[in-house]
Amino acid sequence: MHLVNGKYYIQEFEVENLTKEFGTPLYVYDGHKIEEQIIKMRSAFEGVDLKLKYACKALTNLSILKLMRKNGIDIDVVSIEEALLALKVGYLPAQIQYTPSGVAFSEVQKAVELGLRINLDSIPLLEKFGETYGNSLPIAIRLNPSIMAGGNLKISTGHADSKFGISIEQIETVVELVKKYDLKVTGLHQHNGSDFKSASVIVDAMKKSFEVAFKYFPDLEFIDMGSGFKVAYSEDDHVTDMEDLGKDVVSTFNHFVKEYGKNVQLWFEPGKFLVSECGILLVNTNVVKYNPTRNFVHVDSGLNHLIRPMMYDAYHEIVNISNPAGEVKETYDVVGYICETDTLGKDRSLPKVEEGHVLGIKNAGAYAFSMSSNYNSRIKPAEVLIYHGKAQLIRKRETFEDILKNQIEVEF
Ligand SMILES: Cc1ncc(COP(=O)(O)O)c(C=O)c1O
Repeated sequence: MHLVNGKYYIQEFEVENLTKEFGTPLYVYDGHKIEEQIIKMRSAFEGVDLKLKYACKALTNLSILKLMRKNGIDIDVVSIEEALLALKVGYLPAQIQYTPSGVAFSEVQKAVELGLRINLDSIPLLEKFGETYGNSLPIAIRLNPSIMAGGNLKISTGHADSKFGISIEQIETVVELVKKYDLKVTGLHQHNGSDFKSASVIVDAMKKSFEVAFKYFPDLEFIDMGSGFKVAYSEDDHVTDMEDLGKDVVSTFNHFVKEYGKNVQLWFEPGKFLVSECGILLVNTNVVKYNPTRNFVHVDSGLNHLIRPMMYDAYHEIVNISNPAGEVKETYDVVGYICETDTLGKDRSLPKVEEGHVLGIKNAGAYAFSMSSNYNSRIKPAEVLIYHGKAQLIRKRETFEDILKNQIEVEF
């Protein structure tokens, strides 16, 4: 999004006009920004046999998946439903990696039926998989390396107390099962958290996979390092320097490949890095309330549409789209219309906000719409994609019918 003559634009579209055309609350995604991020990642890791698998939980709209596919990005799914969405836009089953967390074995069987690549995260699932399929299918193993990474505890997944993966300390048990069932392990996987603070953590974690590979798995096809790349949530926010990280990763990985003695691909599963910055949530100001101790801007949205601030204390920059250049600034808490504390931004200095002003909440591409709900029986927003000179609706705004559609009113 950029400012020209006091008006915000996404590509050639004036942002406030988008709200006139499509209403509010509205999610808008910039497809070109996604492509820019893809190029950045590819160029950072040039020099290794790289495969990018979009962690589609971040934003699962079919048109976004289609754009990923068009750009040669494979996909990482965590549920059968995500896999079905990927298949719907034309992904081949072999391009879809299924990385579930603690699912029933029946779901793994469903994934096998669909032909997905399987990534297992527990010893009981490994045992059941061995009993059922033996060495007839390749698998990857999700390791938990006991590493603290990630922006905060809730989004750190590779530490010893996290529910994710098989502890690296239990590797001997894994190896026994591999022998017992002659399992065909072709990949080692880790995902240690989102928003990691120090990029070097990925190199340290990768070395742990190398140790396991050298010692136990001579026939790997890929090492998957998940994701966690940090994007900017505010102007001076710390971000992952992809170029620097890329250099370290490429040289460390190539050294490993040489020692290992066979070609191994390096996989990443970016979610936020690809889609966080492409999205903005546009909301309308319902009420401006000047209380004795605090000023509130109430908007026509809330934690039902964007839960990250309340769930993770995530900071999302907020801008006054209708009055970007206003000289009078006030400090506000930007809050929603939900009957629950649903602060979207605290103590924000904004050009004076008035009823009817459109505000834009940035970094709303990842884990925003995909984590939305119908809490308070509110409907979900529409989604628009800007791409190649068009602003197209890619999801209709819900209606009251959507709230009713699965409910069954019984007779008393
Ligand atoms: C297994 C796995 N891979 C990739 C990701 C994407 O992480 P990020 O959005 O930080 O890129 C996640 C996010 O939770 C994940 O659980």
